[in-house]
Amino acid sequence: MNSILKRIYEKVLPLVGEGNVADYIPALASVNPNQFGIAIYSNKGECYTIGDAKTPFSIQSISKVFSLTLAMKHYGEGMWKRVGREPSGLPFNSLVQLEYEGGVPRNPFINAGAIVVSDMNQTRFATPHYAMREFVRRLSGNPNIKTDKVVADSEYEHRSRNAAMAYLMKSFDNFDNDVEDVLHNYFSNCALRMNCVDLAKAFGFLANKGYCMINNEQVVSEQQARQINALMATSGLYDEAGTFAYMVGLPGKSGVGGGIVAIVPNQFSICVWSPCLNKVGNSLAGVAALEALSSEIGWSVF
Ligand code: DON
Repeated sequence: MNSILKRIYEKVLPLVGEGNVADYIPALASVNPNQFGIAIYSNKGECYTIGDAKTPFSIQSISKVFSLTLAMKHYGEGMWKRVGREPSGLPFNSLVQLEYEGGVPRNPFINAGAIVVSDMNQTRFATPHYAMREFVRRLSGNPNIKTDKVVADSEYEHRSRNAAMAYLMKSFDNFDNDVEDVLHNYFSNCALRMNCVDLAKAFGFLANKGYCMINNEQVVSEQQARQINALMATSGLYDEAGTFAYMVGLPGKSGVGGGIVAIVPNQFSICVWSPCLNKVGNSLAGVAALEALSSEIGWSVF
């Protein structure tokens, strides 16, 4: 595995720095674009890394998988009245579909969907962001995972589009809590800083039938783990989900901090990171690294 990783790292390195870092959240614009790391965590507990795999970054939309997991644990099938399970085919922060479809977001990974899932977690937990941070610390075995307050505040200050979605959902009666409180927690979740190793480990339960080896905990049922993987495969990379399925063939979830996680069911959880994004907001070098890894090893689930 180490020699494959080295080969892929060298192959993708020339792409690092191509694309643009996310600048619609000003605090993310200052990140050094020339960084690239990969971590692969196996169900046997082995961890393989290369490059900047231990440099923390803003996990952004990758956090949406953790919030979904917390909501599914509590609400089970009941949660699907408030959010759908279909790919949106539109950018992650698009508003148009939400009005057409009566305030029910297409899936839990577009912003509107993740915000409604955050509303569910707001009802369930007294301190929703701390519950989430505790959860990722447990899953990754890293008690030092921190929230980047500068990023969270920057997102809150520039929240107009996300706030518009949340208020639109409220107007359709698909929102239970105070919108501003929920947005604060949603942004704090996105602003968690983790590195590739933390994320590969924290996603281990999705490669391992819902079981987290690090914490010896059945996080979700085997069936729920399969369902989360299915949602990642169909919607995890937004309007690039189809191409990602075609090229990589693995459930994945991206974030505008440049991280992407991918799951090889029953074998590995992977995290790649490089800050520059392609046009739809997914890490350009990250997608290339996952394409190379999956074709080299023949990992597709299809
Ligand atoms: O709400 C937002 O726009 C960001 N906090 C998260 C967006 C994101 O990461 C989309 N992913 N590629």
